[in-house]
Amino acid sequence: MKLNFGRVSQDWSGALCLVISEDEGLSPVGRAIDERIGGQLSRAIEAAQFTGAKSSSLELLAPAGTGATRIVLVGAGKAEEASENSFEVLGGFIAGKLLDGKDKKASVVLDEAPAGSVDPAEAVARMAFGIRLRAYRFSKYRTGKKAKPPELKSVTFELARPAPARSQYRPLDKLADGVLLARDLVNEPANILGPVAFADRVKALTKLGLTVQVLNEPQLKKLGMAALLGVGQGSANPSRLVVMRWQGGAKGAKPLAFVGKGVTFDTGGISLKKAAGMEHMKGDMGGAACVTGLMCALAGREAKVNAVGIIGLVENMPDGAAQRPGDIVTSMSGQTIEILNTDAEGRLVLADALWYTQKRFKPKIMIDLATLTGAIIVALGHQHAGIFSNDDTLAEQLAAAGEASGEKVWRLPLASEYDKQLDSKNADMKNIGGMPAGSITAAQFLQKFVNKCTWAHIDIAGTAMSSPQTEINKSWGSGFGVRLLNRLVEQNYER
Ligand code: BES
Ligand code: MN
Ligand code: ZN
Repeated sequence: MKLNFGRVSQDWSGALCLVISEDEGLSPVGRAIDERIGGQLSRAIEAAQFTGAKSSSLELLAPAGTGATRIVLVGAGKAEEASENSFEVLGGFIAGKLLDGKDKKASVVLDEAPAGSVDPAEAVARMAFGIRLRAYRFSKYRTGKKAKPPELKSVTFELARPAPARSQYRPLDKLADGVLLARDLVNEPANILGPVAFADRVKALTKLGLTVQVLNEPQLKKLGMAALLGVGQGSANPSRLVVMRWQGGAKGAKPLAFVGKGVTFDTGGISLKKAAGMEHMKGDMGGAACVTGLMCALAGREAKVNAVGIIGLVENMPDGAAQRPGDIVTSMSGQTIEILNTDAEGRLVLADALWYTQKRFKPKIMIDLATLTGAIIVALGHQHAGIFSNDDTLAEQLAAAGEASGEKVWRLPLASEYDKQLDSKNADMKNIGGMPAGSITAAQFLQKFVNKCTWAHIDIAGTAMSSPQTEINKSWGSGFGVRLLNRLVEQNYER
C-alpha cells in the first residue's frame, strides 16, 4: 500500500473519504463538495442522522459532479478523546471501508487538521500507519481466484500542509515494515519456516545495516547450551541461535537486549500435545518474530540507540532422539534442570539464550518475549500480555509504552515463595511448577538465568496469535510487541 501526502486536489477519480469529528459537521472542502453535488451530502447526513461518532460511516455511491466513484464519510469521534493510538485505529477503520470495493486509489481529505491534543501532522501520520497495518494480508499461498489481492493500491492524504505529515510518517513506515515482518514470520507455516529458514530470513536484514550472526549446533554445544539444544534434539531440523546488532547509539554505550523464544513448531515433544488446535503452535516463535520485527524497525528508522536481538530457534518434536521426561540437562549457566514435561520447552530455550545475552553483552536492560504459557491466556485473555520484572522502573516504562501504543501489558508478581514449586530432588530445579500460578512459575524459572541484570519478561501467548481482530489487524499473527517495544525505546532510551 502506497501512502501519499499532498495538497487538496479538487479533482478526484477514485474513492473520496471525508473525516468528520463528532458534532463538527463538514469541513470547508466538505461543504464545497456538498454544494458541487447539489446538497446531496448534507441531505444524506441528515437522513442517516450521521453525527461523526467513532466507528461510524456513511457512503454515497457515484455522486454526480466530483469524478469520485464514491464519497465515504467517516466519523472520527470526539476531539478530546483522540490519542495517537486512536488515530491509528481511525486509519484502520478508514482502510477497512476503502479496501472493501473496486477502487484502485483513494483520497482522504483533511483540509482542516484534526483537533485535539495530538500534533496534527502526527495525527495524519498515525492514520496512514493504521491504513498500512490494516491493509496487510497473508495470502502468498492462495492461488487462482482466492489469490486476488485487494484492488486498492494507494491512498493520498489531501492536506493544507502535507510536508510535516509526510516527514512524521517516514519512521512509522519503517515501524510498519517491522510489524508486518513479524506478522509474516508468525503466519508462515512450520514446514516452510524452520530454524534454518528463519535464520536465513534474519540474514536478509543485513541490508538495513544490522549485523547478523548465526550460531549452529556445534557452536551452541561448545558454548554449553544443552538446555536449548535438548529441545531441538528430536527434530530433523537443526537448531540455531541468531544474534542481531544495531549500533545507532554512542560508541561503547551498553546495548538494550531483546531475547525471543523461537520454537518454530511446538508439538510438546514426548509430552505430546493433544491434536485439537495444535496447528496454532506454528506461532510458537512469536517472541522471536517480535524481536526480529523490532530490530528491523530500529534499523529501518535509524534509531539512536544500541540494541541487540537474540533469538533461540528450535523445533520441539518427538522422535527416537527426542528428550525424555526425567532427563537432566546442564544449562550454559552451569545450573542443572530436570525435565519433567518436554512441553515446557520455551523456558529451556530462554534459559540459555538469556544467560548468553547477559554474559556476552552486559546489557543496560534485557527484555524477553515468549509465547510461554497457556496459563497467561487464562489470566489475561487476549487483551493484555503479561509482564514480569525485577525492576519497577522498567515495568512502569513498559506499562506506559503499552498504553501509548495500544499494545497493552499487565504486570504479574515475581516472588521467591514460588520457587518451592520448582524444587527438584535430582537436579537444581525442574522445568514445571505444577498447576497453581503457571505463568509466574515460568517467569521464576527464567529469572534464575538472568543473573541480576535489569530484566523484564513478556508472556505473549495470548496476544501474538489468534488474538481478537482489530481495526489495525485482520491477520492471525498480530506482530504484537513490535509497536510496544519501539515505543519503549523511543520514549526512554533514545535521547
Ligand atoms: N507454547 C506453549 C504455550 C502456549 C499455549 C502458547 C497456548 C500459545 C498458546 C508452551 O510451550 C507450553 O506448552 N506450555 C505449557 C507449560 C506446561 C507444560 C507447564 C502450557 O502452558 O501448558
Ligand atoms: Mn510447549
Ligand atoms: Zn512452546
